[in-house]
Amino acid sequence: MTYSPKQAIITPMCEHIISKENLTYLLTTDGFFMRDNGFVSLVGAGPGDAELMTVKAVRLLQQADFVIYDRLVSTDILDLIPAGVSRVSVGKEVGKHCVPQDQINETIVNLAKSGRKIVRLKGGDPYMFGRGGEEVLALKQHKIAFEVVPGVTAASGCSAYSGIPLTHRGMSRSVRFITGHFKNDEPLDINWQRVADPDCTLVIYMGLGNLSHICNALIDAGLSSSTPAAAIENGTSKNQRRVLSQLDQLQDDVNQSGLAAPVMIIIGKVVSLAEELDWFQNALEESGYAEDAAVNS
Ligand SMILES: C[S@@+](CC[C@H](N)C(=O)[O-])C[C@H]1O[C@@H](n2cnc3c(N)ncnc32)[C@H](O)[C@@H]1O
Repeated sequence: MTYSPKQAIITPMCEHIISKENLTYLLTTDGFFMRDNGFVSLVGAGPGDAELMTVKAVRLLQQADFVIYDRLVSTDILDLIPAGVSRVSVGKEVGKHCVPQDQINETIVNLAKSGRKIVRLKGGDPYMFGRGGEEVLALKQHKIAFEVVPGVTAASGCSAYSGIPLTHRGMSRSVRFITGHFKNDEPLDINWQRVADPDCTLVIYMGLGNLSHICNALIDAGLSSSTPAAAIENGTSKNQRRVLSQLDQLQDDVNQSGLAAPVMIIIGKVVSLAEELDWFQNALEESGYAEDAAVNS
């Protein structure tokens, strides 16, 4: 059975997948061949430091045929992919838009149907604001076998590497993970009265763009304006920067320092421990890796 290259599905991510009559073929240098549905490992890469990858994640990378990765996966982690393993980026490139989720799902499904072992590598943990569930639903729909490998989520990474425990006896009894950005830039529809709890640590993913709104909403809902608050940029990496502030000044301090995504916001009494429990930021500064590592702290 042969197929002409005209039948190839050309996408920005992969130019070598050919589908016909619900079967998918992989275009290889030695011709086309058909395979049964493959296997997808949805793997958390952690927040940046390659040594925070799980043993299982590293093993799967070494055994993969294809790795499909996001823009938040650090270059140190991509360096762990053996030479010869095909890589497909589905992240946003400078000046370009993100690849839409349905197009990412289609790429994963098509590659898996070529019968290969696919690692879908995602920043942090796949099931924490990572759309991992949507990708797994697409695999289920196409009857493709899968596994999910958790990763260190950015909240844990930023907490540990910036000296801010997420809970601490006498300071915080609970933690809330919140998204600071809704899809299509819709207004944040959050019940701030419920969230504004002085005994709870708030960890806000994707909150940089709406930071001023978030801080004001929390103050209006009753949280003290002097509540300690932090912003951590590129947490766990050698480019990590940390702004330590308080709720009513965080936006100004972040502006002044020029922090840019990815940034994690942590709000709550536990932030007051950051200087005392720091072990990473000082080491960074002493090593000269990041001259500007401690901004405003
Ligand atoms: C789409 S969410 C993905 C979260 C990811 N699945 C996880 O478990 O960490 C992306 C957001 O996570 C946060 N983030 C991810 N990596 C980060 C890092 N190294 N430092 C600071 N924030 C990070 C930022 O708020 C960023 O906007």
